[in-house]
Amino acid sequence: MAAAARRTVTLIPGDGIGREISGAVQKIFSAANAPVEWDVQDVTPVQLPDGRTAIPQSVVDSVNKNRIGLKGPLMTPIGKGFVSLNLTLRRTFDLYANVRPCRSLEGYKTPFDNVNLVTIRENTEGEYSGIEHEVTKGVFQSVKLITKKASMRVAEFAFDYARSNGRRGVTAVHKSTIMRRSDGLFLQCCREVAERPENSGIDYREMNIDTTCLRMIMEPKEFDVMVMPNLYGDILSDLCAGLVGGLGLTPSGNIGANGVAVFEAVHGTAPDIAGKDLANPTALLLSGVMMLKHMEMVDVAQKIESAVYEVIRDGQHLTRDLGGQARCSDYTAAVCERLR
Ligand code: NAI
Repeated sequence: MAAAARRTVTLIPGDGIGREISGAVQKIFSAANAPVEWDVQDVTPVQLPDGRTAIPQSVVDSVNKNRIGLKGPLMTPIGKGFVSLNLTLRRTFDLYANVRPCRSLEGYKTPFDNVNLVTIRENTEGEYSGIEHEVTKGVFQSVKLITKKASMRVAEFAFDYARSNGRRGVTAVHKSTIMRRSDGLFLQCCREVAERPENSGIDYREMNIDTTCLRMIMEPKEFDVMVMPNLYGDILSDLCAGLVGGLGLTPSGNIGANGVAVFEAVHGTAPDIAGKDLANPTALLLSGVMMLKHMEMVDVAQKIESAVYEVIRDGQHLTRDLGGQARCSDYTAAVCERLR
């Protein structure tokens, strides 16, 4: 079989534990002979003359050139004028769909077995449109913005994802009983996409966000692909991460409008354990696996994924967040060992 063409990927190691877990991913990719070159970029925020935060131009150029990135956690500086760098990245590259697969891992016991679902969150508008103002003293208004354009593209993405990943169903999550027009429009777009002939093999259903939360902690197995507006997705995706063992194990991908995609762990910089070789690199590693699949490097992606699952199943090299005693470097070495 011909070797896959090498791709250059922008790597943003990030802050706190970011360097340790990015270093682990680089070592493991190298042990697996993944055909990837890293274009390593630091994201120290720059503040524009008008006070807004921006990411350095060199990072924007790198992502625009490579079209694909892997990102560690970024610390948002606390202080006037700084907005979240993650939000800035999403806006800069119009990363409209956040995808988070949540799968039970054999060997790491949680209250639920056999969870295997994917949340797809609209990433650009909804309650996070950033439109807030003071109407009168003591009264603030925050605008939830739902547009047909953004709802259609995330609905289309969810169904494309379901088809291309052999998934059987899509659930649209909403609260249109209360937000009749905004969530109503979101649902209408999902229905329109569901009715297309190419989606006839996918079971489509709709569920209120409150019912979804209830069902999710009673019978998570009943869910497959789920698509929803921004805030519901933010909350539900963390709830789902909790079902399978927490943020240290949960990968994600942010898919952009112009073919750009940035994959990232969903946890933060973990300042309490930074620099101590205690971090669990699994979430960033599995984000890297998602990235490889996105680049159609499926064989090497599966090879790394199997090695990770084996190490976790084996239980001898679990990091402390998973109840083990291993250091980040021990876990990394154990995964590399299985790839050689
Ligand atoms: P956090 O996710 O950094 O930490 C929460 C807890 O989880 C801590 O006890 C930490 O040690 C543990 N933890 C997180 N990741 C881990 C890993 N890979 N291995 C082992 N343990 C892990 O959340 P926190 O403390 O709220 O945020 C710290 C900083 O991270 C803040 O500046 C925040 O803005 C930033 N942040 C960045 C995110 C991103 O870049 N996507 C997401 C969330 C927070």
